[in-house]
Amino acid sequence: MRDLLDKLCLQRWLSREEWRTLLARRYDLDREALFARALAERRRWYGDQIYVRGLIECSNICRNNCLYCGIRRDNRHVSRYRLDRDTVLACCEKGYGWGFRTFVLQGGEDPGLTPDRVAETVAAIKARWPDCAVTLSLGEFEREVYQLWFDAGADRYLLRHETADSVHYGKLHPPELTLEHRLGCLRTLKDIGYQVGAGFMVGSPGQTADTLAEDFCFLQDFQPHMMGLGPFIPQKDTPFAGEPAGTLEDTLILLSLVRLTLPRVLLPATTALGTIHPQGRELGILAGANVVMPNLSPPAARDKYTLYDNKLRTGDEAAEHLAGLRKRLAAIGCTVAVHRGDFPNHQ
Ligand code: 5AD
Repeated sequence: MRDLLDKLCLQRWLSREEWRTLLARRYDLDREALFARALAERRRWYGDQIYVRGLIECSNICRNNCLYCGIRRDNRHVSRYRLDRDTVLACCEKGYGWGFRTFVLQGGEDPGLTPDRVAETVAAIKARWPDCAVTLSLGEFEREVYQLWFDAGADRYLLRHETADSVHYGKLHPPELTLEHRLGCLRTLKDIGYQVGAGFMVGSPGQTADTLAEDFCFLQDFQPHMMGLGPFIPQKDTPFAGEPAGTLEDTLILLSLVRLTLPRVLLPATTALGTIHPQGRELGILAGANVVMPNLSPPAARDKYTLYDNKLRTGDEAAEHLAGLRKRLAAIGCTVAVHRGDFPNHQ
């Protein structure tokens, strides 16, 4: 085990068999030593600066029916909304004043959020705040649409691959969604020139050491610039309502393995991690994460954008309490960076 970890730190690459072995026995790893190595790696690239992103939840309307997700099409208990352009701009305006230099527009695959409408919003943000980055997280589209948004000024795109095992992918999604198509989108995004984020939930139903091995093989091969990794949390109106949530320990172990595999990756300590443990995000940062994404959405939208139950939406999670977040980060020796926070050396 120790040898495998040494090999990973040296070569940043393991074979599928090695990943299977390491991941099957990940609870036997010396956690203190593992987290310390991941933390050292994070500090080598980013020091103690934590990058913040203002998250704007643009729409909770979704044409998809992913089994884990609270805003899935068949969930009749969701009160649906879509933010208009001026509302999004007002969120950015506030966020800019507080020090945010990246805005993440995230939403369901909402047919009403047309490509032109998104492009106009992106262009308006970039015209008004040219020193800011715009990240989109709106799901799967054709190349032409991704290109349109890139040309409008979008810098980054988050599209979690959810699992790199196609059988597991089929258990999490309805049949019309395929791993092949998702990976095709990720490759297209990279090809266009976006900084691209992949990712998956920890403890999603059906996840095993073998499916995780596929994830790590995919990561070392695809080399995403960003990587979203947080615990699965059941949502009461989904088919996975009765499934257990992913754990803090497992999320921390996997975060540190991601940092050691992809040393420069932009790796958030997610809201979901903060939701399952009051100190979740700080612990994530101490295990190698270097990004946090406070919520900039209008409060009414926050309450309706419920991918999972008990989501944090006030307190230090909320963007308006950046001072609170700064304090929490200071307690673990970190500061908030006031700049775009790009992937190092991205052309
Ligand atoms: N628990 C945790 N994360 C979830 N996501 C969706 N539903 C849940 C859930 N129940 C994650 C997915 C998606 C991202 C936006 O949120 O990984 O890609």
